[in-house]
Amino acid sequence: MKNIVFLGPPGAGKGTQSAFIIRDYGVVQISTGDMLRAAVKAGTPLGKTAAEFMKEGKLVTDDIIIGLMNERLSEPDCKNGFILDGFPRTIAQATALDAMLSGSLKTELTHIISLEVPDEYIVDRISGRRVSPVSGKIYHVKYDPPAVEGMSEDGKTPLIQRDDDKEETVLKRLSVFHEQADALKGYYRPGGKLHIVDGTKSPEAVYGEIKGILK
Ligand code: AP5
Repeated sequence: MKNIVFLGPPGAGKGTQSAFIIRDYGVVQISTGDMLRAAVKAGTPLGKTAAEFMKEGKLVTDDIIIGLMNERLSEPDCKNGFILDGFPRTIAQATALDAMLSGSLKTELTHIISLEVPDEYIVDRISGRRVSPVSGKIYHVKYDPPAVEGMSEDGKTPLIQRDDDKEETVLKRLSVFHEQADALKGYYRPGGKLHIVDGTKSPEAVYGEIKGILK
């Protein structure tokens, strides 16, 4: 069974690589970013609070995220393996995750994959990102364009751009990422399950490396 954590900056390709892993390994992807965006769209109290942090590129508070993940990881579809995309992002979240796994969930992480991409790639990747509201698939205007320019798979629903993908918000998200990145890698390194992957190659080449790690 694969219980995977993806670490990496915004735009590293965590969502892109998760789609390949789901296709081949049948695990579920749990993206805290997607969960929060769904709550914002639905206008729930959680979504209203989260929106304030997200639009400024700041992290949502640990207690909100930990509560959300506690519920999500208890759902039956996680029993066959999962990818955590965007969680944990702080040491408090990492220790809370360990407590959930060793407590009621009675399982453990199998791989921690750190997708490494230098800052100079990030703004280009994120400013060109578009998402299909039809399928959720992630595109890039240059690196992974859709079949019909600007359109989802049905050829008529426009692709959308995330609200937090504006350049100034991306730079803030990057600086927030760097505040926590080394500490998180340091947290996971002693367990021997941390794998560093060069995320600058093509999506297929990056996935080739990840597949070699997951086997
Ligand atoms: P979240 O949604 O998690 O965003 P993120 O971590 O910033 O990551 P992204 O989704 O931007 O990037 P990605 O690595 O998935 O890249 P992708 O595959 O799309 O978080 C958003 C916000 O929610 C946070 O700022 C925070 O406020 C809040 N939040 C979420 N989790 C939280 C937590 N745990 N605690 C507190 N707050 C939390 O790829 C990007 C683009 O590049 C795409 O267009 C893609 O086509 C392209 N691309 C991908 N791979 C390649 C490649 N190899 N070569 C060329 N192009 C590529």
